[in-house]
Amino acid sequence: MDGNGRWAARHGSTRSFGHEQGIEAVRSTVEGAGEIGISYLTLFAFSTENWARPQEEVDALMNLLVYAIEQETENLLRNNVHVMVIGDTAKLPGQVREKLLNCIDRLKNNTGLTVVLALSYSSKWEIVEAVKKIASDALNHKISPDDINIGLFEKYLSTTGIPDPELLIRTSGEYRISNFLLWQIAYSELYFTEKLWPDFRKEDLFEAIADFQNRERRFGLTSEQIAG
Ligand code: FPP
Repeated sequence: MDGNGRWAARHGSTRSFGHEQGIEAVRSTVEGAGEIGISYLTLFAFSTENWARPQEEVDALMNLLVYAIEQETENLLRNNVHVMVIGDTAKLPGQVREKLLNCIDRLKNNTGLTVVLALSYSSKWEIVEAVKKIASDALNHKISPDDINIGLFEKYLSTTGIPDPELLIRTSGEYRISNFLLWQIAYSELYFTEKLWPDFRKEDLFEAIADFQNRERRFGLTSEQIAG
């Protein structure tokens, strides 16, 4: 969800105000995803690297998260949305963790769209955590090095049980991945838009999906094989 800071600068406002405006984009995108029957929507809300931003901005983002969770939980409950979180949540302030866990618990019986919040998340962190757990399980003879394969490795990632993204959307005209789901996006289709996140709406999501529907996904095979 990139471009909040630039949106704010263009509107002569503070970065925190840009993040606040990003909430409406989140609301519209989640609504749109639910409407068209998407199963999983992962939102990169805060990266491991974002902790190094000015404290004032980090605090504003944490407060905004608390506010958004408080405001939106009822609405999510009504709309059958289920919420999960991936990332180093131990680093989050106690209040954010508490609100988040409470929200997740209240929505646990919902069966519609799953919104995965990537919070204090980075892919390199996630992969290193997985490697640590695998090494520890091998040392404790719970697994043998010969058991290690793609399927086993994925069980140690925080996204275990969540399908790999079919489509990755990056807003704000930046053409990079920024440490997001590096393992999981091996065969994802990438979509880049100039729209800054606070201006993103469900119609932009639909446009990205329409574009995705015209892609040929070959997964390393030939067109002929796919057609056959
Ligand atoms: C990146 O834009 C955006 C963030 C670091 C924060 C995203 C958070 C929200 C939209 C609000 C909370 C989200 C939820 C799920 C309730 P940037 O600050 O890097 O923008 P810039 O590149 O223009 O400076």
